[in-house]
Amino acid sequence: MAKGKDLEGKRENFASKFGIIAAAAGSAVGLGNIWRFPYVAGENGGGAYLLVYIAFVILIGVPAMLSELIIGRRSKSNAVGSFRKLKPKTPWYLVGVMGVLTGFLIFAFYSTVAGWTLHYTYLAIINAFHGMNGAQLAETFDKFHKSALLPVFWQIIFIIMTAAIVIAGIEKGIERYTKILMPLLFLILLILVIRAITLPDAGKGLKFLFMPDFSKVTGKTILEAMGQAFFSLSLGMGVLITYGSYIQKHENLTDVAGEVAFFDTLVAILAGVAIFPAVFAFNLKPEAGPGLAFLTLPGIFEQMPGGYFFAIIFFLLLVVAALTSSISLLEVTVAFLTEEFHITRKSATIWSSLVVAILGIAATLSFGILNNFHIFHKTIFDFLDNVTANILLPIGGFFIVIFVGWVMNKSETRAELTNENKMKGRIYGIFLFLVRYVVPLAIAIVFLYSIGLIKL
Ligand code: TRP
Repeated sequence: MAKGKDLEGKRENFASKFGIIAAAAGSAVGLGNIWRFPYVAGENGGGAYLLVYIAFVILIGVPAMLSELIIGRRSKSNAVGSFRKLKPKTPWYLVGVMGVLTGFLIFAFYSTVAGWTLHYTYLAIINAFHGMNGAQLAETFDKFHKSALLPVFWQIIFIIMTAAIVIAGIEKGIERYTKILMPLLFLILLILVIRAITLPDAGKGLKFLFMPDFSKVTGKTILEAMGQAFFSLSLGMGVLITYGSYIQKHENLTDVAGEVAFFDTLVAILAGVAIFPAVFAFNLKPEAGPGLAFLTLPGIFEQMPGGYFFAIIFFLLLVVAALTSSISLLEVTVAFLTEEFHITRKSATIWSSLVVAILGIAATLSFGILNNFHIFHKTIFDFLDNVTANILLPIGGFFIVIFVGWVMNKSETRAELTNENKMKGRIYGIFLFLVRYVVPLAIAIVFLYSIGLIKL
């Protein structure tokens, strides 16, 4: 019997603790950390935003993450089947259905940006940025992402890479590759950090990131920090229900959640440390916005000694981060299809990848030829991005913590959290208080704010 197989020999498991952490942290650490976090921090005053963000990760992120892991491991089932098993004949399974759907939508626009990172890795390798000024770099990005063939080509390559890993299964696919890719990502990031902090004037960038300026903290900062925590930790759509279902009974879920949250936050901070000193050293504005990675960084590398090399590894870093995240998005659907409809893993992966590709291509083309096609006044890309991050994830997260806090049997949730009461202490009481009151209330506030029902 393979080490990763369940006793029944049917359902797969992660074979090792390190494998669990690599896969879950792989899901969490993504474009959200390396591309989104630094620019959102840049727009929100740096250090103060960072403090608020960390508070949300600990107070809300960790309990929400634990809730998903509890549902998954208790039920040993996919995002939909888990609710059916734990509360049969109730509409709770719809939370899982919504999760599967959300996964499709996120993967679609995520693969667009991931495709860009592949193309930029290629451009870095052929030294295409050489001698370009800011305007030329902006034009390069503009022309590329608004064209049709090239971005779609790279997007399809990316989807195929994701599918190939998912087809191979949990232990031989996801666990095996994330165990290599995550340390690699960390290594690349450390190299970049060392390069960044040895730049002239690096202190300015570090000061911006770490010195809190509380005059910049507004209601909006606080709510943006919380939204970022949800997206960054991959919460609210059943990724961690699915991964939790592959975690063996003896593992400690609190450790898993704590380590993943720690690692995810560390990577976001390190990404900030890698980026801000360079931004200041080369006289760019920290609030440059979403273009930071694709517009300004090639320019920064171009002006830097060894820049050719650093540009390649930076974009490679983005590819790796995106890949280990998209694996988790696809796995939610594949686990659902194989278990609920008894389709093989291979055809489940291929079929769902095809659907994602169609939706994803539409998202990619919405920067160019489909730019005038709007859903609720938004392009397809913006619609997918907005409806998932601002609406579907908060709703999903809200119902997941309510389910664990108020619906599931307390003896069951306690058994999962404390490994059948082997762990002593007050941790269960604190957890229950957080998932019953603190987390749902906080999510409700963010949600109402993001759809504009309340204004701060
Ligand atoms: N967390 C990933 C990032 O930061 C993105 C991601 C992967 C995600 N799976 C998710 C976000 C599930 C929300 C839900 O890039």
